[in-house]
Amino acid sequence: MSSSSAVLRQAQSWSESRLPDFVQPLQRPAAIGRAQALAFLRWEKKDLAATERFWRDFGFHIRSSSPQRLSARGAGTSACIVMAQQGRHNRLLGLAFEMSADTDLQRYVQQEGAQWLPPEDLPDGGVGVALQDPSGRSVWLLQGQATLSPLPQRAAVTLQTNDGQTVRRVNQMVRTPLAPAQVLRLGHVVLQTVDFGAMAQWYMRVLGLIPTDVQCLADGLPALCFFRLNLGATPADHHSLVIVGGIEDKYEHSAYEVTDLDALGQGQQVLRAQGHRHMWGIGRHLLGSQLFDYWRDPEGFEYEHYTDGDVFTADFETQYSQLDFGGIWAWGADAPESMKPPKNLRNALRILGLLLRKKISGARLRQMDQALSAPARPWL
Ligand SMILES: [Fe+2]
Repeated sequence: MSSSSAVLRQAQSWSESRLPDFVQPLQRPAAIGRAQALAFLRWEKKDLAATERFWRDFGFHIRSSSPQRLSARGAGTSACIVMAQQGRHNRLLGLAFEMSADTDLQRYVQQEGAQWLPPEDLPDGGVGVALQDPSGRSVWLLQGQATLSPLPQRAAVTLQTNDGQTVRRVNQMVRTPLAPAQVLRLGHVVLQTVDFGAMAQWYMRVLGLIPTDVQCLADGLPALCFFRLNLGATPADHHSLVIVGGIEDKYEHSAYEVTDLDALGQGQQVLRAQGHRHMWGIGRHLLGSQLFDYWRDPEGFEYEHYTDGDVFTADFETQYSQLDFGGIWAWGADAPESMKPPKNLRNALRILGLLLRKKISGARLRQMDQALSAPARPWL
């Protein structure tokens, strides 16, 4: 074995039908209904003007803007991918999903205590119900939201890429506009939670989600899951929702698809020029395979641009792997330490509270710490 192959390693994964003995499969409950899209996020912000500036530079198309409310679309057909209302806090209020036509929303009222939403709360018509996930976060389930014609988009550079095997571009240059990365649509959202088991079961039962990739700690118990929508034979994104076990219930990030790698790169230049805070990228994720670039909005909430993600049909088998920090990305800039929970007094007190209330065990905490502390790239 050469010295380089001794340290270069790639993550191992297993199909659900061939799991090693120590890995516990994630149980899948019967679903009440089926989500067919992650529709939009709802925010509360103290300063809507700062949010609007960031959203424009990030590549959203502002649809309406007033001192009380802000909403934006992407270049795709969704009429709304994000909205914000003015308030006393900076926080994510909730998520909204578009449910399939054959989903019976009344079942959520009867079985889950959901409430019908008043029509004036719905940004683009249709009907919907509101309920709370186990962490207390609002989740809206909608049907019949209006759609819009897509906005003009430039052709992807990928169509004319010269690679090692094929020449596609002759007597032409790559000249993409130095402009915000045009956001096409909302792709996924990532939530951290103290109670991974309850949250994972709840989102599978309520939305009919399919686990695409499950990650386990050293004890073999799942601690993180990438969920995709059940669209049958229609390919769905590797994940529309990620639930990650941790020490608090917290929004991690939301991610927005852009046209291609050049949109990521040009968009990064625009955001830098406008003074926004870069967080991580450009690189390629391992699970999901997206090319990514991460930013922070004015209050520090994380937003991701991505392109070239994996898609799977409903019959693709669930994959399992062990959770470690290095497994978040395949290549690219090193992930910043800010992606791990800071070891400060606030978190020490938080952990103490979780231990006292028996929300998490000491053994589980040590395994989480080991998974995040292992050197991400031992050869560097
Ligand atoms: Fe992401």
